[in-house]
Amino acid sequence: MKEKIIHILNNEKDFVSGEEISKILGVSRAAVWKHMKALKEEGYEIESVTRKGYRLVASPDLLTEEEVKKHLTSSVMGRKIMYFDSLESTNTTAKDLADKGQEHGTVIVGEEQSAGKGRLGRSWVSPKYKGIWMSFILRPEINPMLIAKITQVGAAAVVKAGEEMNLDLKVKWPNDIILNDKKICGILTEMSSELNQINYVILGIGINANLDLEDFEEELVLKASSIKMELGEVVDRKELVGKIINNFEKLYDSFMADGRGLDSISICREKSILIGREVRVIKGGESTEAKVLDLNDDGELVVKKKNGEVEKLFSGEVSVRGKNGYVL
Ligand code: BTN
Repeated sequence: MKEKIIHILNNEKDFVSGEEISKILGVSRAAVWKHMKALKEEGYEIESVTRKGYRLVASPDLLTEEEVKKHLTSSVMGRKIMYFDSLESTNTTAKDLADKGQEHGTVIVGEEQSAGKGRLGRSWVSPKYKGIWMSFILRPEINPMLIAKITQVGAAAVVKAGEEMNLDLKVKWPNDIILNDKKICGILTEMSSELNQINYVILGIGINANLDLEDFEEELVLKASSIKMELGEVVDRKELVGKIINNFEKLYDSFMADGRGLDSISICREKSILIGREVRVIKGGESTEAKVLDLNDDGELVVKKKNGEVEKLFSGEVSVRGKNGYVL
């Protein structure tokens, strides 16, 4: 009911009378008043004037379905958003829901994760109301071997969304997003599949939107940051989530159409922070120094090792060397 009231108020710049709302929703005026009170308690700023009715002045900074939907132009992705005030991990919840048949394109959003997951078994700091912790449920009918490319589709969507908000984001292959040489976003793709058939893919995106210095563990401060810390201003999380979903839909459709994800790969190449840089490649417990030459059309990172050998990396970890050692 509350969602419906917000919807009515959102669509009307001027006042809407309590009577009109009660007629549209088929409830009493007293019930409308009660819901308005609850909305105000949630942080909605609603002006109420006798004989005129109600007018929405400002919405709270929440990533609820109603708030994010205002920014959506997509037709499948994010048409269903499942919002959680707090949860362990949006990826874990997305997996549980996907196991129960939740449909393709559903997005799980949490305001806070108590057990946010990073890659390689690491944890992901996810304080309340400060970041964007979201996961897409996807059911692509493709060869499971191609799944690594979905991570690059996600990375390209984040970069494009950032661009639309004047954020100059870069991609650190395969799944980090960088602002001012600091990691501000990570992507974790997980999959359930048979040998040649995917049951579902969970694409989890974590963005340090409005985190403050004290939110980071000491050892992370050198390499990680938030958009707010880098720009000195708060970023509109709802708008950013909306733009990520819109861009993700376009790039995902293009990936399904060409089976290669060329549009996304070309964005990741254009915005690569690695091409031309000296790096350390960490693979299977071994570490090699190399220079990054390119990101090829197959989404592989092409590196030239110290011994002159050129290698194409399909997956792995890469550290970037700066003036003072490895900086990313
Ligand atoms: C990494 O860089 O190690 C990947 C981090 C991925 C974090 C996001 S936050 C939303 C989703 N849910 C999780 O538990 N993890 C991903």
